[in-house]
Amino acid sequence: MNVLLIGSGGREHALAWKIKQSKQCDHLWVAPGNPGTATLAHNLPIAPADFAAVGQACRANKIDLVVVGPEGPLVQGIRDYFESDPTLQHIGLVGPGKVGAALEGSKDFSKQFMQRHGVPTAKAFTVTLTNLAEGLHYLATCALPIVLKADGLAAGKGVVICTTHAAAQAELRAMLEQKKFGEASAKVLIEEFLRGIELSVFVLTDGDGYVVLPEAKDYKRIGDGDTGPNTGGMGSVSPVPFATPAFLQKVEERVIKPTLAGLQKEGIPYRGFIFIGLMNVEGEPYVIEYNVRMGDPETQSVVSRIESDLLDLLSACARGQLKNKTIAISPAHALTVVMASGGYPGDFTKGHVIDVGRGPAHVFHAGTRKAGDQLVTDGGRVFGITAVAGSLAEARAQAYTTAGAIAWPGKYLRADIGMDLLHLVDDVRS
Ligand code: AMP
Ligand code: GLY
Repeated sequence: MNVLLIGSGGREHALAWKIKQSKQCDHLWVAPGNPGTATLAHNLPIAPADFAAVGQACRANKIDLVVVGPEGPLVQGIRDYFESDPTLQHIGLVGPGKVGAALEGSKDFSKQFMQRHGVPTAKAFTVTLTNLAEGLHYLATCALPIVLKADGLAAGKGVVICTTHAAAQAELRAMLEQKKFGEASAKVLIEEFLRGIELSVFVLTDGDGYVVLPEAKDYKRIGDGDTGPNTGGMGSVSPVPFATPAFLQKVEERVIKPTLAGLQKEGIPYRGFIFIGLMNVEGEPYVIEYNVRMGDPETQSVVSRIESDLLDLLSACARGQLKNKTIAISPAHALTVVMASGGYPGDFTKGHVIDVGRGPAHVFHAGTRKAGDQLVTDGGRVFGITAVAGSLAEARAQAYTTAGAIAWPGKYLRADIGMDLLHLVDDVRS
């Protein structure tokens, strides 16, 4: 099979690494990829949003399967583009069409979808400029803290948690009147705050059959002890000790099955990943958000525990043949530490020469670039270092040893990935 993977982050390096292990993989291309994927595949200098160029690359390279990493091209309709072109229609594609991608692209759409199909989620009220006065009045009646969410894609920054009513009212006005997040905040959800612990569950579905991938916990804040601003994710762990089999069973019955049944009922075809962000509230799952792709850096930990041939599953997904597939998952512990540029998620400088030493863990590239023979930094999140071991403590040790062998001026990483879970592991899993 000839495969084209779209994207350029750590998630894509991890997917490329796993796809390349499949006996079914003849050739792998990545558009645009990064220096990490270049060691496994042919990188193509194509922007994911340039569907015409992606289509041309598929024709030229006789691609059988396209795997879309990030949400952007999905929300912009890459599947719809492929389906409407007679020269591309035969190509399998992992990722939903524009309508399905609205599960991530519009928080208002996904909230109403959950409400229509009985998927447990926080209560919410949607406000636009036309009912701003009503929204401000509603805010005054809400318990604190209050969660405000921009409806559209806002690069992970569209959720603001307000601890006073005055702050919530000012924030609502800033989002709607001053268009704080541009068009993304033309609609805003006022949402009830859920108190609990977060985890993410990943499903690969063809709209009928599905497999549940390993669950993961992401570390979103920049600072140790979950302090400071939100980032794309500074680390991940899988398995998650508090995701007990009983809890995951509830997720399957109350969230996954009703979500897939809802898509079917509404006639929304869906072939791709669903990444379900969950809050465990006293043992009960509530959906915080759907994403229509895998997470980054969750993927690096998740694929490291998949024993099955991932390409076989992706190809079955794209062709609507997932129904009889199963997935084998290693009981081992995977842990990913993200190495970032100093200053991220704010301003940072690029182009620092990276000294890459060796270590026992796997090094997935994200924001790197080749400058001649040298590897230099080229983004906020530079690497994801993933270790897999028999215990969480050992995975931590291996990941941090490897991260310690990689250096550039200003490198930054959290020192506490997985530490909050160490005391739970022995109680629950081993
Ligand atoms: P999202 O962009 O929807 O993933 O939200 C970003 C983060 O905001 C989540 O990972 C949660 O930590 C937090 N969050 C979102 N919605 C809620 C909620 N209803 N209650 C508590 N925290 C929330
Ligand atoms: N790590 C969070 C995300 O990929 O959305």
